[in-house]
Amino acid sequence: MTDEPKDHAPASTGPSRRDLLESALGAGAAVWAAGIAVPTGMYLWPAAASGPTKKYIEVDPASMPPGTGRVVSEGGKPVLLLRQKNGEFRALSAVCTHLGCIVHWNADQQQIQCPCHAGTFTPEGAVVSGPPPRPLASYPTQMVAGKLRITI
Ligand code: FES
Repeated sequence: MTDEPKDHAPASTGPSRRDLLESALGAGAAVWAAGIAVPTGMYLWPAAASGPTKKYIEVDPASMPPGTGRVVSEGGKPVLLLRQKNGEFRALSAVCTHLGCIVHWNADQQQIQCPCHAGTFTPEGAVVSGPPPRPLASYPTQMVAGKLRITI
């Protein structure tokens, strides 16, 4: 007869405590990584998150008699559209190069004016007077199917 001690512990039928703990830590790490990666991706690629935006503005040319100007915009990008007396169009950024106020066309004086600090520009966008440090940027225009298209 042998007097060997018998192991009375029940036989293991499932995952050990160690396996469960490792699984829980792995799942927690995955959730933590996703919590960092998703906002970072949305910050780096916001256009993909918000969808496509138009890259042009279309205007009916008949709505602008020669010698007039008005601000049009798309996607928060204001453009000053001028129709010269010869009928040609010119599209300029409507954002003043000084501190970013929206400029407007003064038909009586035939110049672009900024209401904030009295900056003035020629119809071509060059600085005439005031604090603006640079001319207004210009955008290309073309006629497409009877509409004036400003590429922004
Ligand atoms: S913002 Fe236009 S002149 Fe200052």
